[in-house]
Amino acid sequence: MEDFTAIGPDLPDPFRLLIREKVHSTNDEVRVLAEAGAPDGLIILAREQLAGRGRRGAAWFAPAGESLAFSILIRPMENKALWPRLALAAGLSVAEAVESFLPLAGIKWPNDIWLNGKKLGGILVEAGRDFAVVGIGLNVNTLTFPPEVADIATSLHLETGQELSRPGVLAAIIRHFAHHRLQIGNDFNAMLDGVRQRCVLTGHPISLLTAEGYRHGQMEGISPGGELLLRDETGLHALMQADEIRLR
Ligand code: BTN
Repeated sequence: MEDFTAIGPDLPDPFRLLIREKVHSTNDEVRVLAEAGAPDGLIILAREQLAGRGRRGAAWFAPAGESLAFSILIRPMENKALWPRLALAAGLSVAEAVESFLPLAGIKWPNDIWLNGKKLGGILVEAGRDFAVVGIGLNVNTLTFPPEVADIATSLHLETGQELSRPGVLAAIIRHFAHHRLQIGNDFNAMLDGVRQRCVLTGHPISLLTAEGYRHGQMEGISPGGELLLRDETGLHALMQADEIRLR
């Protein structure tokens, strides 16, 4: 069994790793501890996550021993309006971490990690009153996926042909995140450059679901505030949130 405890001393301040054998969702575990006063930087990693949640209420497949499923408690100093930027910070951190093994990883705005047209990882940020939970799922050594996601999911092992150390990948993500989480208020532009460089949607026709229904247009890029810039027949629109974004 891989030794996650060994990376504890190497994690930057204030990050601290707690390992749970079996949980429903690491996001829920962190939320409970956050509400009881746990400090900024707490990470809960599940060896087995039984009911992982994705965005839009989808289930998240995380087979024990193959993938990474963990959540980070953040108590941001920044104004709450800026907290959605944590999702971009986390996506960029995962992309940069996996680039030790691969060429440039793709980011499907706002925070799916993509390689060769398939999803490698996803992020679910949930906010409480005075904290945010940043949940990260990454397919590391998975070789087979359930039929419903087999055509759209991939893993680091499938892409590199090598089995990778999950503790090593986790430590690399946290190192990058320690830096990027601080950029949601200061230096956000520099962080966005990293996201823009990797965004797989830019310049392509896309369809997306917003609170007002489906919209179609051309993804023009990412605004200085981190919004998706969509051009359609009525002009250029900056969208803060969108579900089900598809390349057409
Ligand atoms: C998505 O792309 O839909 C987001 C997936 C997020 C999955 C992670 S796994 C760890 C954390 N705990 C959860 O229940 N979900 C997130």
